[in-house]
Amino acid sequence: MTRDEPFGVYVHWPFCKAKCPYCDFNSHVRHGGIDETRFLSAYLTELNHFAGRAPGRTVTSIFFGGGTPSLMPPRTVAAILDGITSHWVVADDVEITLEANPTSVEAENFAGYAAAGVNRLSLGVQALDDRSLKALGRRHTVDEALAALDLAKRIFGRVSFDLIYAREGQTLHDWEQELTRALTHAADHLSLYQLTIEDGTPFAARHAVGRLRVPDGDKASAMYQLTQTLCEAAGLPAYEISNHARPGSESRHNLVYWRGHDYAGIGAGAHARITEGGTKRALSTIESPEAWLAQVEAEGHGLASDESLSTQEAAEEYLLMALRLAEGMDLVRFATLAGHAIDEAQLHGLEGDGLVARSGGRLMATQSGRLVLERVILELAA
Ligand SMILES: C[S@@+](CC[C@H](N)C(=O)[O-])C[C@H]1O[C@@H](n2cnc3c(N)ncnc32)[C@H](O)[C@@H]1O
Ligand code: SF4
Repeated sequence: MTRDEPFGVYVHWPFCKAKCPYCDFNSHVRHGGIDETRFLSAYLTELNHFAGRAPGRTVTSIFFGGGTPSLMPPRTVAAILDGITSHWVVADDVEITLEANPTSVEAENFAGYAAAGVNRLSLGVQALDDRSLKALGRRHTVDEALAALDLAKRIFGRVSFDLIYAREGQTLHDWEQELTRALTHAADHLSLYQLTIEDGTPFAARHAVGRLRVPDGDKASAMYQLTQTLCEAAGLPAYEISNHARPGSESRHNLVYWRGHDYAGIGAGAHARITEGGTKRALSTIESPEAWLAQVEAEGHGLASDESLSTQEAAEEYLLMALRLAEGMDLVRFATLAGHAIDEAQLHGLEGDGLVARSGGRLMATQSGRLVLERVILELAA
Protein backbone atom coordinates (compact mmCIF):
# COMPACT_ATOMS: atom_id res chain seq x y z
CA MET A 1 0.00 0.00 0.00
CA THR A 2 1.28 3.47 -0.80
CA ARG A 3 -0.31 6.61 0.52
CA ASP A 4 -1.26 7.80 -2.94
CA GLU A 5 -3.22 4.61 -3.72
CA PRO A 6 -7.01 5.03 -3.89
CA PHE A 7 -8.73 4.92 -0.49
CA GLY A 8 -12.50 4.54 -0.03
CA VAL A 9 -14.92 5.16 2.81
CA TYR A 10 -18.01 2.94 2.97
CA VAL A 11 -20.99 4.05 5.08
CA HIS A 12 -23.63 1.39 5.76
CA TRP A 13 -27.20 2.49 6.52
CA PRO A 14 -28.87 -0.70 7.75
CA PHE A 15 -32.54 0.28 7.56
CA CYS A 16 -35.27 -0.37 4.99
CA LYS A 17 -39.00 0.40 4.80
CA ALA A 18 -39.71 -3.30 4.22
CA LYS A 19 -37.59 -6.39 3.69
CA CYS A 20 -37.56 -7.66 0.09
CA PRO A 21 -38.02 -11.46 0.04
CA TYR A 22 -34.84 -12.15 -2.00
CA CYS A 23 -32.47 -9.94 -0.02
CA ASP A 24 -29.91 -11.06 2.57
CA PHE A 25 -28.10 -7.75 2.97
CA ASN A 26 -27.76 -6.41 6.51
CA SER A 27 -31.01 -4.47 6.46
CA HIS A 28 -33.63 -4.08 9.18
CA VAL A 29 -37.12 -2.64 9.40
CA ARG A 30 -37.82 -0.39 12.40
CA HIS A 31 -41.48 0.61 12.28
CA GLY A 32 -41.12 2.82 15.33
CA GLY A 33 -38.34 4.86 13.68
CA ILE A 34 -34.82 5.29 15.01
CA ASP A 35 -33.03 7.85 17.13
CA GLU A 36 -31.38 9.79 14.29
CA THR A 37 -29.31 11.96 16.62
CA ARG A 38 -27.75 9.02 18.45
CA PHE A 39 -27.04 7.17 15.22
CA LEU A 40 -25.41 10.20 13.60
CA SER A 41 -23.28 10.74 16.63
CA ALA A 42 -22.21 7.05 16.54
CA TYR A 43 -21.26 7.30 12.83
CA LEU A 44 -19.06 10.29 13.64
CA THR A 45 -17.48 8.44 16.57
CA GLU A 46 -16.71 5.40 14.45
CA LEU A 47 -15.26 7.61 11.71
CA ASN A 48 -12.90 9.00 14.30
CA HIS A 49 -11.77 5.44 15.12
CA PHE A 50 -11.04 4.64 11.47
CA ALA A 51 -9.28 7.97 10.94
CA GLY A 52 -6.88 6.95 13.71
CA ARG A 53 -6.27 3.60 11.98
CA ALA A 54 -5.67 5.07 8.50
CA PRO A 55 -4.03 8.45 9.02
CA GLY A 56 -2.72 10.56 6.17
CA ARG A 57 -4.75 8.90 3.44
CA THR A 58 -6.52 10.78 0.65
CA VAL A 59 -10.14 9.73 0.24
CA THR A 60 -10.88 9.06 -3.42
CA SER A 61 -14.40 7.61 -3.06
CA ILE A 62 -17.24 7.51 -0.55
CA PHE A 63 -20.18 5.13 -0.82
CA PHE A 64 -23.43 5.25 1.16
CA GLY A 65 -24.81 1.71 0.83
CA GLY A 66 -27.49 -0.29 2.54
CA GLY A 67 -30.07 -1.11 3.45
CA THR A 68 -31.64 2.00 2.07
CA PRO A 69 -29.47 5.11 2.41
CA SER A 70 -32.16 7.15 0.62
CA LEU A 71 -34.04 6.97 3.94
CA MET A 72 -31.26 9.08 5.49
CA PRO A 73 -32.14 12.71 6.03
CA PRO A 74 -29.86 14.81 3.76
CA ARG A 75 -28.54 16.63 6.85
CA THR A 76 -27.23 13.29 8.19
CA VAL A 77 -25.45 12.61 4.90
CA ALA A 78 -24.00 16.14 4.97
CA ALA A 79 -22.79 15.73 8.58
CA ILE A 80 -21.05 12.41 7.79
CA LEU A 81 -19.38 13.97 4.73
CA ASP A 82 -18.22 16.87 6.91
CA GLY A 83 -16.84 14.32 9.38
CA ILE A 84 -14.88 12.60 6.60
CA THR A 85 -13.48 15.94 5.40
CA SER A 86 -12.41 16.84 8.92
CA HIS A 87 -10.33 13.64 9.27
CA TRP A 88 -8.83 13.06 5.85
CA VAL A 89 -7.79 14.99 2.77
CA VAL A 90 -10.53 14.41 0.21
CA ALA A 91 -9.48 14.27 -3.46
CA ASP A 92 -10.76 17.12 -5.66
CA ASP A 93 -12.43 14.61 -7.95
CA VAL A 94 -13.82 12.41 -5.13
CA GLU A 95 -16.69 10.14 -6.21
CA ILE A 96 -19.56 10.23 -3.66
CA THR A 97 -22.26 7.65 -4.38
CA LEU A 98 -25.53 7.07 -2.57
CA GLU A 99 -27.77 4.02 -3.13
CA ALA A 100 -31.42 5.00 -3.48
CA ASN A 101 -34.71 3.19 -3.81
CA PRO A 102 -36.76 4.78 -6.59
CA THR A 103 -39.96 5.70 -4.76
CA SER A 104 -41.42 9.17 -5.18
CA VAL A 105 -40.96 9.91 -1.48
CA GLU A 106 -37.27 9.13 -1.59
CA ALA A 107 -36.82 11.12 -4.82
CA GLU A 108 -37.79 14.20 -2.81
CA ASN A 109 -34.43 13.91 -1.02
CA PHE A 110 -32.29 13.83 -4.19
CA ALA A 111 -31.66 17.59 -4.38
CA GLY A 112 -30.71 17.59 -0.69
CA TYR A 113 -28.16 14.82 -1.24
CA ALA A 114 -26.63 16.70 -4.16
CA ALA A 115 -26.42 19.84 -2.00
CA ALA A 116 -24.65 17.74 0.67
CA GLY A 117 -22.00 16.72 -1.90
CA VAL A 118 -23.28 13.41 -3.35
CA ASN A 119 -22.29 13.38 -7.03
CA ARG A 120 -23.38 9.89 -8.09
CA LEU A 121 -26.67 8.08 -7.49
CA SER A 122 -27.24 4.34 -7.79
CA LEU A 123 -30.93 3.48 -8.11
CA GLY A 124 -32.43 0.08 -7.31
CA VAL A 125 -34.87 -0.16 -10.22
CA GLN A 126 -34.68 -4.03 -10.27
CA ALA A 127 -37.24 -4.66 -13.05
CA LEU A 128 -39.10 -2.81 -15.79
CA ASP A 129 -42.28 -4.78 -15.33
CA ASP A 130 -44.84 -4.09 -12.60
CA ARG A 131 -45.74 -7.74 -12.02
CA SER A 132 -42.11 -8.61 -11.42
CA LEU A 133 -41.67 -5.63 -9.09
CA LYS A 134 -44.59 -6.91 -7.06
CA ALA A 135 -43.17 -10.43 -6.99
CA LEU A 136 -39.84 -8.98 -5.81
CA GLY A 137 -41.70 -7.22 -2.98
CA ARG A 138 -40.72 -3.78 -4.28
CA ARG A 139 -42.59 -0.71 -3.13
CA HIS A 140 -42.40 1.19 -6.42
CA THR A 141 -43.86 0.84 -9.92
CA VAL A 142 -41.97 1.04 -13.21
CA ASP A 143 -43.35 4.54 -13.86
CA GLU A 144 -42.24 5.72 -10.43
CA ALA A 145 -38.78 4.23 -10.94
CA LEU A 146 -38.37 5.83 -14.37
CA ALA A 147 -39.52 9.20 -12.99
CA ALA A 148 -36.94 8.90 -10.18
CA LEU A 149 -34.30 7.98 -12.77
CA ASP A 150 -35.12 11.03 -14.92
CA LEU A 151 -34.95 13.28 -11.87
CA ALA A 152 -31.63 11.72 -10.82
CA LYS A 153 -30.19 12.30 -14.30
CA ARG A 154 -31.12 15.98 -14.04
CA ILE A 155 -29.62 16.39 -10.56
CA PHE A 156 -26.49 14.21 -10.46
CA GLY A 157 -23.49 14.18 -12.76
CA ARG A 158 -23.40 10.39 -12.72
CA VAL A 159 -26.24 7.89 -12.38
CA SER A 160 -26.39 4.10 -12.31
CA PHE A 161 -29.29 1.73 -11.88
CA ASP A 162 -29.63 -1.92 -10.88
CA LEU A 163 -31.73 -4.62 -12.51
CA ILE A 164 -32.16 -8.23 -11.43
CA TYR A 165 -32.58 -10.84 -14.19
CA ALA A 166 -33.25 -14.61 -14.34
CA ARG A 167 -36.40 -13.90 -12.35
CA GLU A 168 -39.28 -16.30 -11.97
CA GLY A 169 -40.98 -16.98 -15.30
CA GLN A 170 -38.61 -14.70 -17.25
CA THR A 171 -37.65 -15.95 -20.73
CA LEU A 172 -34.58 -15.01 -22.75
CA HIS A 173 -36.86 -12.99 -25.03
CA ASP A 174 -38.42 -11.15 -22.04
CA TRP A 175 -34.95 -10.20 -20.80
CA GLU A 176 -33.86 -9.10 -24.27
CA GLN A 177 -36.83 -6.72 -24.45
CA GLU A 178 -36.39 -5.46 -20.91
CA LEU A 179 -32.66 -4.86 -21.22
CA THR A 180 -33.09 -3.18 -24.62
CA ARG A 181 -35.57 -0.81 -23.01
CA ALA A 182 -33.30 -0.30 -20.00
CA LEU A 183 -30.41 0.65 -22.28
CA THR A 184 -32.49 3.48 -23.74
CA HIS A 185 -32.72 4.90 -20.21
CA ALA A 186 -29.13 4.19 -19.15
CA ALA A 187 -26.89 7.07 -18.13
CA ASP A 188 -23.23 6.10 -17.63
CA HIS A 189 -23.46 2.88 -15.58
CA LEU A 190 -25.64 -0.21 -15.09
CA SER A 191 -25.46 -3.05 -12.54
CA LEU A 192 -27.16 -6.18 -13.88
CA TYR A 193 -27.42 -8.97 -11.33
CA GLN A 194 -28.55 -12.52 -11.90
CA LEU A 195 -31.10 -13.38 -9.18
CA THR A 196 -29.36 -15.34 -6.44
CA ILE A 197 -31.46 -17.47 -4.12
CA GLU A 198 -29.90 -16.54 -0.78
CA ASP A 199 -30.12 -18.96 2.15
CA GLY A 200 -32.52 -17.95 4.87
CA THR A 201 -34.65 -15.64 2.70
CA PRO A 202 -38.37 -16.15 1.92
CA PHE A 203 -37.33 -16.81 -1.72
CA ALA A 204 -35.09 -19.68 -0.55
CA ALA A 205 -37.97 -21.22 1.42
CA ARG A 206 -40.30 -21.02 -1.59
CA HIS A 207 -37.60 -22.29 -3.94
CA ALA A 208 -36.93 -25.28 -1.69
CA VAL A 209 -40.54 -26.49 -1.95
CA GLY A 210 -40.86 -25.80 -5.69
CA ARG A 211 -43.08 -22.74 -5.33
CA LEU A 212 -40.50 -20.45 -6.92
CA ARG A 213 -39.06 -21.55 -10.24
CA VAL A 214 -36.18 -19.59 -11.69
CA PRO A 215 -34.46 -20.12 -15.05
CA ASP A 216 -32.03 -23.08 -14.90
CA GLY A 217 -28.26 -22.77 -15.28
CA ASP A 218 -28.22 -22.95 -19.10
CA LYS A 219 -30.98 -20.37 -19.49
CA ALA A 220 -29.35 -18.07 -16.95
CA SER A 221 -25.99 -18.40 -18.79
CA ALA A 222 -27.72 -17.51 -22.07
CA MET A 223 -29.17 -14.43 -20.34
CA TYR A 224 -25.71 -13.51 -19.08
CA GLN A 225 -24.20 -13.85 -22.59
CA LEU A 226 -27.03 -11.79 -24.08
CA THR A 227 -26.40 -9.13 -21.43
CA GLN A 228 -22.76 -8.87 -22.53
CA THR A 229 -23.69 -8.57 -26.21
CA LEU A 230 -26.44 -5.95 -25.79
CA CYS A 231 -24.51 -3.80 -23.32
CA GLU A 232 -21.37 -3.87 -25.42
CA ALA A 233 -23.33 -2.85 -28.52
CA ALA A 234 -24.86 0.03 -26.53
CA GLY A 235 -21.42 1.32 -25.45
CA LEU A 236 -21.62 0.02 -21.85
CA PRO A 237 -19.27 -2.98 -21.82
CA ALA A 238 -18.85 -5.06 -18.67
CA TYR A 239 -15.86 -3.99 -16.58
CA GLU A 240 -16.85 -6.53 -13.90
CA ILE A 241 -19.10 -9.59 -13.96
CA SER A 242 -22.30 -7.65 -13.20
CA ASN A 243 -21.21 -4.07 -13.80
CA HIS A 244 -21.27 -2.14 -17.05
CA ALA A 245 -20.12 1.37 -17.78
CA ARG A 246 -19.29 3.80 -20.50
CA PRO A 247 -15.47 3.75 -20.58
CA GLY A 248 -14.23 6.13 -17.87
CA SER A 249 -17.50 5.93 -15.89
CA GLU A 250 -16.70 2.78 -13.91
CA SER A 251 -17.60 3.04 -10.20
CA ARG A 252 -14.34 4.15 -8.63
CA HIS A 253 -15.50 2.92 -5.25
CA ASN A 254 -16.17 -0.60 -6.47
CA LEU A 255 -12.78 -0.57 -8.19
CA VAL A 256 -11.21 0.10 -4.77
CA TYR A 257 -12.57 -3.30 -3.64
CA TRP A 258 -11.79 -5.21 -6.80
CA ARG A 259 -8.28 -3.80 -7.21
CA GLY A 260 -7.50 -4.69 -3.60
CA HIS A 261 -7.05 -1.18 -2.17
CA ASP A 262 -7.83 -0.08 1.39
CA TYR A 263 -11.17 1.23 2.60
CA ALA A 264 -12.75 2.21 5.90
CA GLY A 265 -16.27 0.92 6.64
CA ILE A 266 -18.57 2.49 9.20
CA GLY A 267 -22.09 1.64 10.35
CA ALA A 268 -23.64 -1.68 11.40
CA GLY A 269 -22.45 -4.61 9.30
CA ALA A 270 -19.78 -2.69 7.35
CA HIS A 271 -16.51 -4.27 6.21
CA ALA A 272 -13.12 -2.62 5.92
CA ARG A 273 -9.58 -3.41 4.77
CA ILE A 274 -6.80 -1.33 6.27
CA THR A 275 -3.06 -1.84 5.83
CA GLU A 276 -1.28 -1.27 9.14
CA GLY A 277 2.47 -1.71 9.50
CA GLY A 278 2.60 -3.41 6.11
CA THR A 279 -0.09 -5.96 7.02
CA LYS A 280 -3.57 -6.01 5.53
CA ARG A 281 -6.28 -6.18 8.19
CA ALA A 282 -9.87 -7.31 7.68
CA LEU A 283 -12.38 -5.53 9.88
CA SER A 284 -16.14 -5.80 10.19
CA THR A 285 -18.71 -4.26 12.48
CA ILE A 286 -21.62 -5.74 14.46
CA GLU A 287 -24.66 -6.37 12.27
CA SER A 288 -27.45 -5.51 14.70
CA PRO A 289 -27.96 -1.72 14.50
CA GLU A 290 -28.83 -1.38 18.18
CA ALA A 291 -25.95 -3.57 19.38
CA TRP A 292 -23.60 -1.64 17.08
CA LEU A 293 -24.88 1.65 18.48
CA ALA A 294 -24.40 0.50 22.08
CA GLN A 295 -20.84 -0.69 21.45
CA VAL A 296 -19.84 2.48 19.59
CA GLU A 297 -21.17 4.55 22.48
CA ALA A 298 -19.27 2.42 24.99
CA GLU A 299 -16.03 1.72 23.12
CA GLY A 300 -15.72 4.24 20.29
CA HIS A 301 -16.17 1.62 17.55
CA GLY A 302 -18.64 -1.12 16.63
CA LEU A 303 -16.06 -3.67 15.49
CA ALA A 304 -17.01 -7.34 15.73
CA SER A 305 -13.79 -8.60 14.13
CA ASP A 306 -10.40 -7.09 13.47
CA GLU A 307 -7.87 -9.58 12.12
CA SER A 308 -4.68 -9.50 10.14
CA LEU A 309 -4.64 -11.46 6.88
CA SER A 310 -1.71 -13.78 6.18
CA THR A 311 0.18 -13.10 2.94
CA GLN A 312 -1.56 -16.13 1.39
CA GLU A 313 -5.01 -14.87 2.47
CA ALA A 314 -4.33 -11.35 1.19
CA ALA A 315 -3.11 -12.75 -2.14
CA GLU A 316 -6.13 -15.07 -2.50
CA GLU A 317 -8.48 -12.23 -1.73
CA TYR A 318 -6.81 -10.12 -4.42
CA LEU A 319 -7.17 -13.01 -6.89
CA LEU A 320 -10.83 -13.44 -6.01
CA MET A 321 -11.60 -9.76 -6.45
CA ALA A 322 -9.41 -8.87 -9.42
CA LEU A 323 -10.46 -11.79 -11.60
CA ARG A 324 -14.00 -10.39 -11.53
CA LEU A 325 -12.68 -7.46 -13.54
CA ALA A 326 -12.39 -7.36 -17.32
CA GLU A 327 -8.90 -5.83 -16.84
CA GLY A 328 -7.99 -8.85 -14.69
CA MET A 329 -5.21 -9.03 -12.12
CA ASP A 330 -1.69 -7.75 -12.02
CA LEU A 331 0.59 -10.81 -11.83
CA VAL A 332 3.43 -8.86 -10.19
CA ARG A 333 1.06 -7.48 -7.52
CA PHE A 334 -0.13 -11.02 -6.81
CA ALA A 335 3.44 -12.28 -6.49
CA THR A 336 4.32 -9.40 -4.14
CA LEU A 337 1.31 -10.11 -1.92
CA ALA A 338 1.73 -13.90 -1.95
CA GLY A 339 5.49 -14.00 -1.77
CA HIS A 340 5.51 -16.32 -4.83
CA ALA A 341 4.33 -16.23 -8.42
CA ILE A 342 1.33 -18.25 -9.63
CA ASP A 343 2.31 -21.75 -10.66
CA GLU A 344 3.14 -21.78 -14.42
CA ALA A 345 1.76 -25.29 -14.92
CA GLN A 346 -1.63 -24.27 -13.45
CA LEU A 347 -1.67 -21.18 -15.66
CA HIS A 348 -0.88 -23.19 -18.80
CA GLY A 349 -3.63 -25.67 -17.97
CA LEU A 350 -6.26 -22.99 -17.52
CA GLU A 351 -5.06 -21.15 -20.65
CA GLY A 352 -5.29 -24.41 -22.58
CA ASP A 353 -8.90 -24.82 -21.40
CA GLY A 354 -9.66 -21.28 -22.62
CA LEU A 355 -10.58 -20.10 -19.12
CA VAL A 356 -7.89 -17.46 -18.62
CA ALA A 357 -5.73 -15.30 -20.89
CA ARG A 358 -2.55 -13.30 -20.30
CA SER A 359 -1.72 -9.90 -21.67
CA GLY A 360 1.02 -7.45 -20.68
CA GLY A 361 1.65 -8.78 -17.18
CA ARG A 362 -2.06 -9.19 -16.42
CA LEU A 363 -4.20 -12.28 -16.16
CA MET A 364 -7.88 -12.18 -16.99
CA ALA A 365 -10.73 -14.67 -16.94
CA THR A 366 -12.18 -15.22 -20.43
CA GLN A 367 -15.97 -15.15 -20.93
CA SER A 368 -16.08 -18.93 -20.39
CA GLY A 369 -13.76 -18.53 -17.39
CA ARG A 370 -16.12 -16.03 -15.76
CA LEU A 371 -18.92 -18.57 -15.92
CA VAL A 372 -16.80 -20.98 -13.81
CA LEU A 373 -14.85 -18.38 -11.86
CA GLU A 374 -14.87 -20.33 -8.61
CA ARG A 375 -13.11 -23.27 -10.26
CA VAL A 376 -10.54 -20.96 -11.88
CA ILE A 377 -9.78 -19.24 -8.57
CA LEU A 378 -9.48 -22.53 -6.69
CA GLU A 379 -6.97 -23.87 -9.22
CA LEU A 380 -4.91 -20.68 -9.29
CA ALA A 381 -4.83 -20.39 -5.51
CA ALA A 382 -3.87 -24.05 -5.02
C1 LIG B 1 -27.99 -3.33 -1.03
S1 LIG B 1 -28.94 -3.72 -2.35
C2 LIG B 1 -29.94 -2.38 -2.65
C3 LIG B 1 -30.04 -1.06 -2.46
C4 LIG B 1 -31.45 -0.57 -2.30
N1 LIG B 1 -31.90 -0.86 -0.98
C5 LIG B 1 -32.44 -1.23 -3.24
O1 LIG B 1 -33.02 -2.22 -2.90
O2 LIG B 1 -32.65 -0.67 -4.31
C6 LIG B 1 -27.92 -3.62 -3.78
C7 LIG B 1 -28.41 -4.40 -4.97
O3 LIG B 1 -28.19 -5.78 -4.81
C8 LIG B 1 -29.06 -6.46 -5.68
N2 LIG B 1 -29.53 -7.66 -4.99
C9 LIG B 1 -29.93 -7.78 -3.71
N3 LIG B 1 -30.27 -9.06 -3.43
C10 LIG B 1 -30.09 -9.77 -4.58
C11 LIG B 1 -30.28 -11.15 -4.94
N4 LIG B 1 -30.74 -12.03 -4.08
N5 LIG B 1 -29.98 -11.52 -6.21
C12 LIG B 1 -29.51 -10.62 -7.10
N6 LIG B 1 -29.33 -9.32 -6.81
C13 LIG B 1 -29.61 -8.90 -5.57
C14 LIG B 1 -30.18 -5.53 -6.06
O4 LIG B 1 -30.15 -5.24 -7.43
C15 LIG B 1 -29.89 -4.30 -5.25
O5 LIG B 1 -30.22 -3.12 -5.91
S1 SF4 C 1 -33.17 -5.10 -1.66
FE1 SF4 C 1 -32.77 -3.05 -0.86
S2 SF4 C 1 -34.78 -2.34 -0.08
FE2 SF4 C 1 -34.95 -4.52 -0.33
S3 SF4 C 1 -34.45 -5.32 1.71
FE3 SF4 C 1 -32.54 -5.38 0.49
S4 SF4 C 1 -31.52 -3.51 0.95
FE4 SF4 C 1 -33.67 -3.26 1.63
